[in-house]
Amino acid sequence: MSGEKPPVEFCKGVNGLDKVVLREAKGSSAEVYLYGGQVTSWKNDQGEELLFVSSKAIFKPPKAIRGGIPICFPQFSNNGPLEQHGFARNRFWSIDTDPPPFPTNTSNKAFVDLILKPSEEDLKIWPHSYEFRLRVTLGPGGDLMLTSRIRNTNNDGKPFSFTFAYHTYFSVSDISEVRVEGLETLDYLDNLQEKQRFTEQGDAITFESEVDKIYLGTPTKIAILDHEKKRTFVLRKDGLPDAVVWNPWDKKAKAMADFGDDEYKHMLCVEAAAIEKPITLKPGEEWKGRLELSTVPSSYCSGQLDPQRVLQG
Ligand code: BG6
Repeated sequence: MSGEKPPVEFCKGVNGLDKVVLREAKGSSAEVYLYGGQVTSWKNDQGEELLFVSSKAIFKPPKAIRGGIPICFPQFSNNGPLEQHGFARNRFWSIDTDPPPFPTNTSNKAFVDLILKPSEEDLKIWPHSYEFRLRVTLGPGGDLMLTSRIRNTNNDGKPFSFTFAYHTYFSVSDISEVRVEGLETLDYLDNLQEKQRFTEQGDAITFESEVDKIYLGTPTKIAILDHEKKRTFVLRKDGLPDAVVWNPWDKKAKAMADFGDDEYKHMLCVEAAAIEKPITLKPGEEWKGRLELSTVPSSYCSGQLDPQRVLQG
């Protein structure tokens, strides 16, 4: 019985890796691996998985886990000298037993605080001292909230800059039946065309081929409508002006060892991010980036979804 299980449970996951299970009284749940500080599961109160994790995901360091919500830090993608998407996603995070208080105190019971600090080896590749605190909370309604707090703890007086993304893999029933709302008419950098800048045309963002775009200056709310499932994901974000939309489609899917050939049909990454303008922190300064995910039922209205209803949620 889920009612008997604790709201927070520390246990072992795939290959004996440490994981934390969060449970909410009505039956929703989430899982977080200390490896990568990575959410790998988010289920609604019906037990349906809402995030995509590849059946070929390799839960073995140093490979990052393919799916869930990898954290890209201190570098998004290949926009810099570090390894792709930085190193936070393939480091072992720790449980933060004494996190500094959050400005808003909530009555949520299902949450965990993680912390990442640089090792001696990390300092050789990125010579900055920091504390990265991640709180993952499962709200009473089954909403999933991630708050990242990154502090510059350099004692050499030096600032540092970083780019960041919550690389969220959403599970969708059929990518060709999915529509994203909230990014229409925005400018984006196209990773498939040497990061050139374009303006989104047309009134709907739908998918029929590979996509890898960084939308700029995005609203705090973005919706992903899964027509077949009649489910809408609502993504709310704070401190994260950009949004990456990625689907590898068939050719790239085949080229990835940790991704099934046809799995691109059942996933879509929409990544709340800070990329175009890197975040700079002076010693002692802290940055906060927040992501909140929820789902609402969506329905057809004479063959078309009503964007107002979705976005006003
Ligand atoms: C996306 C990038 O965020 O992540 C893509 O925009 C990249 O360019 C994708 O291919 C997956 O990256 P990785 O390193 O997890 O294979």
